[in-house]
Amino acid sequence: MEITMTAGSTTPARTYSLAVVPGDGIGPEVTGCALAVLGKAEELFGFATEREHIQAGAQHYVATGELFAGPIEESLRGKDAILFGSMGDPSVTPGILERGFILAMRQGFEQAVNLRPVRLYPGVKTPIADLSPERCDLVIVRENTEGAYVGRGSTVHAGTKNAVAIQESVNTRAGVERVIDYAFRLAASRRKKLTLCHKTNILVEAGRLWSDTMADVAKRYPEVETDYVHVDAMCFHLPISPERFDVVVTDNLFGDIITDLGAVIQGGLGVAASANLNLDGSAPSMFEAIHGSAPDIAGMGLANPAGAVLSLAMCLAHLGEPVAAHAVETAVVEVLGSMEGLAGAAMGGTTIEVGQRIVTALEAVAKGKTPLLAGQSIMEAMAAAKNK
Ligand SMILES: NC(=O)c1ccc[n+]([C@@H]2O[C@H](COP(=O)([O-])OP(=O)(O)OC[C@H]3O[C@@H](n4cnc5c(N)ncnc54)[C@H](O)[C@@H]3O)[C@@H](O)[C@H]2O)c1
Repeated sequence: MEITMTAGSTTPARTYSLAVVPGDGIGPEVTGCALAVLGKAEELFGFATEREHIQAGAQHYVATGELFAGPIEESLRGKDAILFGSMGDPSVTPGILERGFILAMRQGFEQAVNLRPVRLYPGVKTPIADLSPERCDLVIVRENTEGAYVGRGSTVHAGTKNAVAIQESVNTRAGVERVIDYAFRLAASRRKKLTLCHKTNILVEAGRLWSDTMADVAKRYPEVETDYVHVDAMCFHLPISPERFDVVVTDNLFGDIITDLGAVIQGGLGVAASANLNLDGSAPSMFEAIHGSAPDIAGMGLANPAGAVLSLAMCLAHLGEPVAAHAVETAVVEVLGSMEGLAGAAMGGTTIEVGQRIVTALEAVAKGKTPLLAGQSIMEAMAAAKNK
């Protein structure tokens, strides 16, 4: 893609409505950095956002009993996109906020795809010996509304020696097909290879539905090569030979697990980004770093804001600002590459200071002093897959 940048352009502003949900723990800190970068991006690339800050999370729940459903859902529904920090706090029973807010939003807004790039950026440290950026650039497309995360199940004789717990995994042809179709579109915009990751040798019923759907959808994308890897084998291949993957499509639970492994390979939870995409425009998509609220470091300035800022970049690509998105991605990579370590004191500055460095780096990118990140940016592929 040819990129022309017009820093300080006088083009009339494109305006997007954005809901900002900072949430709990380190959420407000990293979201603050993302908003500082957004402000600078607006100034440099000639667009604008109308932002509404939404009170939600542990404190709000304890005070009001409110989760996703109700007034918050209504405030979010009409927006072009949602920028999300993180949720979860020791003061609230585990699962209430995570299921009552995060999962409820993904399901309620039909955010069918959870998109998680696993790219080792140049200059960024990885715990995997000898891994180079050329060998690690893939995207995991995780089904985001079904599987084991529908919250269906029951327990009989709870709390006794005879307790029986049943946890259901729901897989619908429609739900599986829409995520596989998106994964094909994304692969067609990248290196044209799609891998299905499942456990078809044991979970034969769900596995058959996924395999059959993959085979059917493949007929519409003859230019995309396909293959299959069991989820346990994926945990072996991902750190050792990530170069064998371009786009990976998988179910909700497997995707949740293998994307944390992906995050480690690319430098840690602090640098990994994600998009929760509504594919038919019926509700807003949501963008969040993949880490949680990290209560152990909340309020201490030790959180790396890179994942949150890269999630903002994905948000910009989704909104139709791929040039600004690519520039923000480049700025984050510049700053990450200059850091001794990717979390805590090793970052060489507080969360806010790292955020400010990204703002400064973005200015240098927009003014042409720093070249755009080479190689194919996920931002371009996202924009292409959306418009296909
Ligand atoms: N989407 C979400 O909001 C989301 C996702 C995962 C977990 N959670 C919730 O977050 C809470 C804490 O969960 P957890 O501890 O298992 O996972 P976590 O991701 O919050 O933290 C895991 C570890 O990584 C570190 N870490 C996380 N983000 C970091 C960053 N940006 N920079 C530096 N270090 C970082 C933390 O300090 C911690 O040691 C729980 O309530 C959990 O349910 C929420």
